[in-house]
Amino acid sequence: MRILGINSIFHDPAAALVVDGRVVAATDEERFSRRKHGKRPVPFSAWELPEMAARWCLEHAGLEAGDIDAIAYSYDPGLAARGTPGHDRHWEQLRTLYAQRAPYFLATALPGIDAGSFRYVPHHIAHAASAALAAPGPGDGDVLVLDGRGEAHSHLSGTYRDGVLTRLSAQALPHSLGLMYEELTQHLGFLRSSDEYKVMALASYGEPRFLDEMRKRVRATADGGFAVDPIDWGALAKARRPDGGITEGDTVITKGDTEMTDDHADLAASVQARLEEVILDLAAWLQGRTGSRRLSMAGGVALNCVANSRLAEAGIYDEIWVQPAAGDAGTALGAALHLAQEAGEPIEAMPGAALGRGWDDWELAARLDAARIPYERPDDLAAAVADALARNEIVAWFQGRSEWGPRALGHRSLLAHPGHPGNLERLNAVKGREQFRPIAPMVALDHAAEIFEGPLPSPYMLFVHRVKAEWRDRIAAVVHVDGTARIQTVSPADDPLVADLLEAFRVRTGLPVVVNTSLNTAGRPMVDDPRDALECFGSAPVDLLAIGPYVVRRREVFAG
Ligand SMILES: [Fe+2]
Repeated sequence: MRILGINSIFHDPAAALVVDGRVVAATDEERFSRRKHGKRPVPFSAWELPEMAARWCLEHAGLEAGDIDAIAYSYDPGLAARGTPGHDRHWEQLRTLYAQRAPYFLATALPGIDAGSFRYVPHHIAHAASAALAAPGPGDGDVLVLDGRGEAHSHLSGTYRDGVLTRLSAQALPHSLGLMYEELTQHLGFLRSSDEYKVMALASYGEPRFLDEMRKRVRATADGGFAVDPIDWGALAKARRPDGGITEGDTVITKGDTEMTDDHADLAASVQARLEEVILDLAAWLQGRTGSRRLSMAGGVALNCVANSRLAEAGIYDEIWVQPAAGDAGTALGAALHLAQEAGEPIEAMPGAALGRGWDDWELAARLDAARIPYERPDDLAAAVADALARNEIVAWFQGRSEWGPRALGHRSLLAHPGHPGNLERLNAVKGREQFRPIAPMVALDHAAEIFEGPLPSPYMLFVHRVKAEWRDRIAAVVHVDGTARIQTVSPADDPLVADLLEAFRVRTGLPVVVNTSLNTAGRPMVDDPRDALECFGSAPVDLLAIGPYVVRRREVFAG
């Protein structure tokens, strides 16, 4: 069966194509529309479908719209919350109406699509399938989904046997760990449904001084779910204005260019700590019911790599796999996989995160020729780029198909030397990011255990690792304030070119580690196509662009 998966209901619209149980393509609408997260995360944008992403998925597979056997939409309006306290009924009705009309919207966007082939997949079933069915290895194991919300729930605990999910617990709204974290994100002056990872980074600067308060308000329950009481955030710490403005009389601490008070950092630390504790309780309950040693996870909360690491360290499960597109984009893939599984098709694990667009060498050369900029084709690309990095140049690295999920994993990356502490500030400046945020390293898998402590391998940057004391000064740019780093391990089998680059850099510097951050500038989605790459290269102080087999050097483009 040819199944097109669609996510569009809340945010991060995305499309995925699964053919005969195999993941063929998956990508976010933002990579095409160049609008971060694809759209605003508001109820009245629920009609906006991932039109361009869906069109590309078909084109990539050489399919016409009429060739699609089923469309899997990752939200079931028939299950939508009705009059749930704390939720605006009018918005809920509008969202439901949009979801009910989605087949017709899609038939308009993709002429030839059979609106009759449209199937609604419950939101958390789609998240669960994106984790358990896409995970490598045998499909059986437990699954934990935590997000802001689905139709009427914010959580699912279950277990897969022979590819079939048994749901063991589901927490109904309004209780939601994801929405709690979103509320805190907003209270701290960041964009909710978008900037939650900034709160996680901020937590490392604080002490969990409000943990007892949070324990009273947020707790696991005996049925495998949890309760989140309404929280008066302002009573714990004053709201931080989006511009970072601090009220007179507060004790101001400055992290780089971001002003906040100790209260803000301590509140972030407290909520983060309580989130971790409750996740441990939920996992222990689930494992106690099933006896499974294997867990997969999805839902936006599963992007909290600090919590993931704490769960891994707790040893409740031997093996934890997190869907790299754990946020709502991933439900496009999960919905399609769920339908394929229901149809009795053999499901293959996703082959990696490189599921987006890619270009042939000749197409890249044509783009460079069109831009009329000088470029060269080095005999050994890894060596040429390693030379530049060893000279402390910043490299834009555009290789192969773009990544599925929010992390750059060596296909659309900005690379730098990790040994110069100033490169943290330098890269955050290039990207227009707050200076309190860390930058992450990629590391050769063979050398990872020498330098980092934590779950290995870690190919998708979904866990944090402690940096061993003797390495902290050697790779200072990538060590967060709490002595950790969110690593990506790279093996030659997974990505021979990036592995070659890491080895070439190690030969030159003694460091099997390179700074790897996403290739984009302030407020923009990750670079996806060659034009985006050239625009980014032209507008940011990047020294070298490695695009396919070609190299563009800033000093040659802008000489004289
Ligand atoms: Fe979700």
